[in-house]
Amino acid sequence: MNAIEIVITLPFFPQSETRGDSWTRIIILGPPGSGKGTRAKIMGKLYDLPVVTTGDMLREAVSEGTELGKLAEGYMNRGELVRDDIVISIVEDRMSKPDVVKGFILDGFPRSVEQAEALDRILNRLGTALDVVLYITAEQETIIERLSLRRSCPKCGAIYHLKDMLPEREGICDECGGVLVQREDDKAKIIRHRLEVYEKQTFPILERYERVGKVRQMSGEIDIKEIPDEIRRVLGPP
Ligand code: AP5
Repeated sequence: MNAIEIVITLPFFPQSETRGDSWTRIIILGPPGSGKGTRAKIMGKLYDLPVVTTGDMLREAVSEGTELGKLAEGYMNRGELVRDDIVISIVEDRMSKPDVVKGFILDGFPRSVEQAEALDRILNRLGTALDVVLYITAEQETIIERLSLRRSCPKCGAIYHLKDMLPEREGICDECGGVLVQREDDKAKIIRHRLEVYEKQTFPILERYERVGKVRQMSGEIDIKEIPDEIRRVLGPP
């Protein structure tokens, strides 16, 4: 398949009642490099919602050398999904914090049928429901170019691009002054494997959210400057 889609899923459970017409319990789905993290950060600021990014949480654990990080590192460097039980336990823990009560943006979770089922259980336990799944789509060529030119800050997770999203000072994070790096898994061979893993293990879960009418699609190809307006259009006013 050439065209790879990023999915934004909409409410799976009853609609959130905290914010009038806008959605506050959001999943962002889509292939690697489609722009999930970039959108999650913009949406978090726009809607004042906590962003839960499993990739960032796992990378932090790796850089701190925790037991969890040691378990996750090999999977990540090979471009494979980290074991479901590991990822589910970190999301369960994060979703028990008080700041997610007003809503959340889940970036990069769920990524397998088992994770999607676990999320249902977590939300049921919290007596809450998913509002929307935002599905982001992008061509494979776009993804490969983007990820090869991506640089990110290991300290605060800010994302840059050597052509489309340059920092003010070369190689230095605008947000926290950290030194920007290229992710281990952003090498061409690993990117291709991540795309295969996405098609096989993550793409199939889109259907379960489509069945219940939760999915809103957004092109990952629009200019980065147009993203805030597009988000307002798809998700409603902050
Ligand atoms: P993760 O960090 O989640 O990686 P990913 O899903 O592969 O997604 P990326 O972060 O690579 O891309 P993105 O879609 O967020 O794009 P971005 O906005 O950065 O996961 C990494 C690894 O952790 C996994 O492989 C796995 O091992 C493990 N993991 C994580 N979650 C897991 C889970 N639930 N279960 C199991 N394992 C898990 O954009 C990319 C680049 O493009 C940037 O440079 C950006 O500036 C640029 N860009 C974005 N949008 C635009 C645009 N519109 N125009 C121009 N440039 C753009």
